[in-house]
Amino acid sequence: MAHVLVTGAAGFIGAAVTAALAARGDRVTGIDVAVGPALARLAEAHAGVTAYVCEITEWAALAELMRRDPPDTIVHCAAIVGVPASVLSPHRTFDVNVGGSLTLFEAARLFGVRRVVHISSEETYGAFQAECIDETHPQNPVLAYGISKLAVEHLGRTFATLYGLEVVHLRTCWVYGPGLPRPRVPKTFVDAAVAGRPFHLPWGAAMKVDHTYIDDLVAGVLGALDCANHPHDAYNLGSGKAPTLAEIVGIIRELVPGADISAGDGEFEHSLPGASVPAVRKGALNVARAHAAFGYTPRYDIRAGLAAYIEAVRAGGS
Ligand SMILES: NC(=O)c1ccc[n+]([C@@H]2O[C@H](COP(=O)([O-])OP(=O)(O)OC[C@H]3O[C@@H](n4cnc5c(N)ncnc54)[C@H](O)[C@@H]3O)[C@@H](O)[C@H]2O)c1
Repeated sequence: MAHVLVTGAAGFIGAAVTAALAARGDRVTGIDVAVGPALARLAEAHAGVTAYVCEITEWAALAELMRRDPPDTIVHCAAIVGVPASVLSPHRTFDVNVGGSLTLFEAARLFGVRRVVHISSEETYGAFQAECIDETHPQNPVLAYGISKLAVEHLGRTFATLYGLEVVHLRTCWVYGPGLPRPRVPKTFVDAAVAGRPFHLPWGAAMKVDHTYIDDLVAGVLGALDCANHPHDAYNLGSGKAPTLAEIVGIIRELVPGADISAGDGEFEHSLPGASVPAVRKGALNVARAHAAFGYTPRYDIRAGLAAYIEAVRAGGS
């Protein structure tokens, strides 16, 4: 039975990864700034899941936790996530994403961790130069979030070169499904449609971005964790397709008849209090490298993913 440390285990992706690891019998130590409801439920349901309050920026606490019970591998999900949060809190973004990852990598190499899988982001690419891009696309991030995630990738390479620590980066796009804590599309449309509330986004219909259903992302994370020998240290994980927001709204309307939702013309903007930040051009992620290395095969196209998501929200998820 492997022992996996999951950082950010109370969050959207961290909790889903923790659930999947526990379900297959791995032992999981889940850490986060607070043991939120999702992680608390997992620790209650699975004897193999232990939850701790532990900040990745706090060396003494993190080192003591890993010294007492060193994990074999780490799935690194803890971060200040997303463009709006990073524009509002750039210092905190760098403190947690870059400083926290540095602390984690240092502890990982000192306490004999075999592999760290870091959830990176398509924001490290900056504006997409084609409709569908692979991992060789230039990385020119333009906002604090993407810049911080690219810094983590580079730091991972430094630890590999200097100390032989294996760090694998999974660049994913917009992950959706029950449990996302942020009001981001398609969550905003799905929640409104299921609740019978009107929701009209003033812009964004033309925005094209790869949307990955949470179950596919988790399957990719486990694939990368288990892969015997990684031929690369960075992989795209996505659906391989980039539907427009107009298409997404259309599918939700079909799946929830009578849904009073729409997206206005034009490109997408991230809403912030008193301001909005235009999204850079995005598109689809080519996932051939992850398929070749560890068999990653997305099972959910956008229609199947939205149907599963709507069913989960109807059943009481969020
Ligand atoms: N959700 C997406 O669409 C998406 C897309 C691309 C990349 N990612 C990456 O995936 C990872 C997980 O994202 P998510 O969507 O689950 O976000 P999330 O906000 O739901 O989870 C992140 C978790 O990290 C925790 N955290 C923050 N600071 C911490 C600290 N100092 N110490 C310990 N924990 C801390 C938060 O409390 C939160 O529970 C992040 O690295 C993110 O950059 C997410």
